[in-house]
Amino acid sequence: MARITTATIREKKLNREKISMLTAYDYSMAAMVDEAGIDMILVGDSLGMVYLGYENTLAVTMDDMIHHTKAVVRGSKQAMVVGDMPFLSYHVSVKEAVRNAGRFVQEAGAQAIKLEGGEERLPVVRAILDAQIPVMGHIGLTPQSVNQFGGFKVQGKDLETAQKLIRDAKLLEEAGVFAIVLEGVPTKLAERITAEVNVPTIGIGAGHHCDGQVLVINDMLGMFKGHIPKFVKKFANLEPLIIEALKDYKKEVEEGTFPGQEHGFTIQDDVLQKLY
Ligand code: KIV
Repeated sequence: MARITTATIREKKLNREKISMLTAYDYSMAAMVDEAGIDMILVGDSLGMVYLGYENTLAVTMDDMIHHTKAVVRGSKQAMVVGDMPFLSYHVSVKEAVRNAGRFVQEAGAQAIKLEGGEERLPVVRAILDAQIPVMGHIGLTPQSVNQFGGFKVQGKDLETAQKLIRDAKLLEEAGVFAIVLEGVPTKLAERITAEVNVPTIGIGAGHHCDGQVLVINDMLGMFKGHIPKFVKKFANLEPLIIEALKDYKKEVEEGTFPGQEHGFTIQDDVLQKLY
């Protein structure tokens, strides 16, 4: 089965069809996301928080991202896989940014990359596009700017920052991105941006008017103990189920009821007798 392409994603906006995207970081989860027919899998640098246990995304490296993106590509067949450029992988120089973006495609097999920022990142966005690598923009509450923002705060609430977000979205569209993530943006501002650009907007904490939605999979499956933002809906609550199963396992191991006969392997009696 062929993978969904950037063309399909753009068509969905034209046809007013909503776009679904979820994060995944490993083979097994990617296979389930793919099986569910989700359009795009983002190997997000949220990996740092939900898989690697850091308090933010800043410590995630290119090597971390490549390692996990490879597993996600192996696990999926039809979803479009987008690799997330980690902090400092596109800030030092345009040349380094292109090389790092290229690693996602050449080494890991991703089809596109995502990077955070608007106007200030245009030279990098243009250079990566020039290398024939599709780019997804990401503006609003961009987690790699957590120290500059002074925390994970909704963006675009005052006139100046709202106008900047509209301008950034238009500039990214002009540069040629195929979609733009709007994170932590007031619903009405996200509606305005979505109406003003022809590329799809993918919201996270940006309300229901966006052309698509993305969530961190551990949050929406109820598998993450850390802070869960207000915009997350838990579509399942797997953590208690998993802990219950693990406790049952411990109990059965301790009681000697697991493994049962059915979990063992047989040996011919004559072979066994010759052992004594
Ligand atoms: O890293 C990530 O998971 C993201 C999404 C939340 C958009 O950037």
